[in-house]
Amino acid sequence: MMAMSLDGYVARKNHSLDWLNKQPTQNEDHGFFDFMDSVDALVMGSGSLKTVLGFCEWPYVKPVVVLSRSMTKQELPEHLRDKVEFSRASPQELWEVFSEAGYKRIYVDGGAVIRSFLNAGLVQDMKITMVPILLGGGIRIFGETACDVDLELVSAAPFPSGMVDLVYKLKAS
Ligand SMILES: NC(=O)c1ccc[n+]([C@@H]2O[C@H](COP(=O)([O-])OP(=O)(O)OC[C@H]3O[C@@H](n4cnc5c(N)ncnc54)[C@H](OP(=O)(O)O)[C@@H]3O)[C@@H](O)[C@H]2O)c1
Repeated sequence: MMAMSLDGYVARKNHSLDWLNKQPTQNEDHGFFDFMDSVDALVMGSGSLKTVLGFCEWPYVKPVVVLSRSMTKQELPEHLRDKVEFSRASPQELWEVFSEAGYKRIYVDGGAVIRSFLNAGLVQDMKITMVPILLGGGIRIFGETACDVDLELVSAAPFPSGMVDLVYKLKAS
């Protein structure tokens, strides 16, 4: 689940989400809590963790695994050390660990990390909120792929703010 500018960016180059926060979304339900209810855990990269650490509150109630080769628990505020695990595993290795733990559905968040899971063939569906803005540059979620990734549109829901929620399933290749 992510919000993306019409030209395909999820954050500015400096990781700012100001363009997202200024959208007039009062009273709009883009399904964050329902989506969170539907997953067993979250995986994100250290880039996304650094952004979330700047939020006023920790927004997750599910277990969070952060993929990082550079960060350690010591860099986390003490109240988050039992809420976040760090891992250097590959997407495939991590999925095996989750499967053994009985987890069935994982929320993969970030930019580079989403690309890693896509390239490993481990993404089943995507929820993208298209934001009516052109940023002209920034951090992308999508990049080069080894082959085409065919998608099936499951739903499309426009909102008064101009945002459009799109749900896609990945077609079996
Ligand atoms: N608009 C939205 O809805 C939305 C949603 C999510 C995130 N965001 C923002 O988008 C930006 C994404 O930036 P990003 O692409 O740098 O973030 P990211 O995917 O969250 O983090 C990437 C970092 O994770 C680490 N990593 C470890 N193992 C990895 C693996 N297998 N594959 C990929 N990365 C791995 C690497 O850093 P080290 O190993 O050096 O630690 C890498 O630089 C952030 O600013 C985030 O806040 C926006």
